Amino acid sequence: MRVGVFTGGGDAPGLNAAICGLGRRLVAQGVQLVGFRDGWRGLIEDRAESLDGVNYQHLLVHGGTLLGSSGDNPYRDPERDVPRVLATVARHRLDALVAIGGEGTLGAADRLWTEHRLPIVGVPKTIDNDLSATDFTFGFFSAVEVVTRAIDDLRSTAESHSRVIVVECMGRHAGWITAYSGVAAGAEAILVPERPAHIEELCQNLEKFRKAGARAAIVAAAEGCRVFENGECLSSMEKDEFGQYKTGGVADLLARRIQKRIGWESRAVVMGHLQRAGRPIAFDRIFALRLGAKAARLVLERRYGFMAALRAGEVIDVPLHEAVAERKTLTDQFLDRYETFFLPISSM
Ligand code: F6P
Repeated sequence: MRVGVFTGGGDAPGLNAAICGLGRRLVAQGVQLVGFRDGWRGLIEDRAESLDGVNYQHLLVHGGTLLGSSGDNPYRDPERDVPRVLATVARHRLDALVAIGGEGTLGAADRLWTEHRLPIVGVPKTIDNDLSATDFTFGFFSAVEVVTRAIDDLRSTAESHSRVIVVECMGRHAGWITAYSGVAAGAEAILVPERPAHIEELCQNLEKFRKAGARAAIVAAAEGCRVFENGECLSSMEKDEFGQYKTGGVADLLARRIQKRIGWESRAVVMGHLQRAGRPIAFDRIFALRLGAKAARLVLERRYGFMAALRAGEVIDVPLHEAVAERKTLTDQFLDRYETFFLPISSM
């Protein structure tokens, strides 16, 4: 059997561990694994790379992805690129393809399976944790760890200078990273896209903390959070070349507004790509390894159109379309459970 593998979308700690889980199980069964570089671009342009001789065991610990990645997708220009992908698969005589990616990568995988019966299996990754049909995606908890530790550390400098520090977290339109790390680090306010907020209320709450004796305050703000001022949303709604909303810059806007409105000196810290950088935490290594191994099992059983997923601690398989049908954002149940941490609670 010959199997192709690629990693698409933004990198996430654990990608190499997923390749390790897949590779070790397939190679043990005598399967030849072929890598494709740079996400779907590798299939469109036939950027094949031999994985013979890869030390899968050592690969496990490394961040990033051995295969490179991109946000490209054959459905950006389907008439030109879908036949190219199918031709690459035929040229390499692949029996199956394993797509390791998030919403965009797996969305294209689902369409290629549904529309062209391309034998494909998915593995979910994204630090954003916004894929449905799986409790978590690998990379998410590594990102949460980075932000939590950063907030822990920022508190000392915030207190030394009696400042507000607004910490901007990734996640696009999902507030998972911000919510988990904000709660874990005891942030004074947590702003997520799922719960719109007013700048007036945020400032009033910060003012209350200050009057009650707080030396500093940390505001954990998701890059996609929606904070309104005089009925207008402060965050940008511009789209990038892949049709995704351009996020980022909200911490700076918020810090300036807070300082202007209540005169509490404020600074912005953008966590940025540190959230995706470096080695995965142990949980993500093992989690990704299990998902990769599950994908290998699906391939060996010739069960295509499925994705490996985590549900209640068990690694199971789910139809690809279930994973990409809907973006998984913070639920009302989650927000209500941690209600007191999400300030200001909006009445919008
Ligand atoms: O989807 C993962 C993610 O890290 C988002 O959280 C973030 O908005 C985006 O990718 C950043 O993308 P890029 O690496 O292209 O700047």
